[in-house]
Amino acid sequence: MRVVVTGGAGDLGSRVVGKIRERGHDAVPASRRTGVDLSSGAGVDAALRGADAVVHCADDASAGDTVTVHGTRRLADAAAAQGVHLVHISIVGIDDHPMAYYRRKLRAEQAIAAAGPATVLRATQFHSLAAFFARTLTKGPVTFAIGDMAFQPVDTDHVALRLADLALGPSPTAYARARDLAGPDVLTVGELATLVRAHRGASAPRVVHLPAVGSVLTAFARADNVPAAGTAETGGRTFAAWLADQPARLSGR
Ligand SMILES: NC(=O)c1ccc[n+]([C@@H]2O[C@H](COP(=O)([O-])OP(=O)(O)OC[C@H]3O[C@@H](n4cnc5c(N)ncnc54)[C@H](OP(=O)(O)O)[C@@H]3O)[C@@H](O)[C@H]2O)c1
Repeated sequence: MRVVVTGGAGDLGSRVVGKIRERGHDAVPASRRTGVDLSSGAGVDAALRGADAVVHCADDASAGDTVTVHGTRRLADAAAAQGVHLVHISIVGIDDHPMAYYRRKLRAEQAIAAAGPATVLRATQFHSLAAFFARTLTKGPVTFAIGDMAFQPVDTDHVALRLADLALGPSPTAYARARDLAGPDVLTVGELATLVRAHRGASAPRVVHLPAVGSVLTAFARADNVPAAGTAETGGRTFAAWLADQPARLSGR
């Protein structure tokens, strides 16, 4: 099969490309560096020509609606017009979440549903992002835990495997949501910060609990980002196992 991967040089997309190639199929990365720009539509039709599926991993969270919503709509319309199976990555818990980026991811899903048959997979935060949150909420030896803020982070490699499975599987005849995907463990911010600090040889932090201020922190404090029990498929490496493979000094997201 021939599978186009938007954002094929990014964190998730590069892993999807690898998983598809490992199985002996043709994976074609598509993003600005290959002449495909979702913000203008340049190169999109040409990139999809002759493809069986497209896995949509490109995004630019800093560009407002431009790529996340309008770029996704352009891609979904082009895929529907050419009969290419679109497989899209979204985020668990975005239905009522007030965070602007999550609102845009929901509108992207709606644009895909309006375009035609497609598959949307929602995943929880990746381990790297959960580690970033834990670091951001830790100042010196103190971690600030807001309400019941917690994560059920998932290994990016596991998400990539699932996306490759969906792209190489049968094409749907209608818009469909795959079962949500999460990692094996639910971890509080204090637990995440303890693991992250131990990873670089530091002692467990003192956890200070703060009330949530504003709608976004309130949603995280309610753990809206954690799937309700039994609603998600779980798998992939635990956060601790993922962390063990990272350099002592974590950086980025
Ligand atoms: N991080 C998480 O915890 C998490 C959880 C669930 C779902 N997700 C979803 O996973 C997806 C991928 O995330 P990621 O962290 O892998 O992203 P990433 O590493 O930032 O990669 C995104 C890619 O998008 C491409 N891109 C940006 N603007 C573009 C444009 N205008 N046209 C075409 N391509 C463009 C970039 O390549 P060029 O520079 O070559 O254009 C880049 O390589 C996102 O949709 C995100 O919402 C993430």
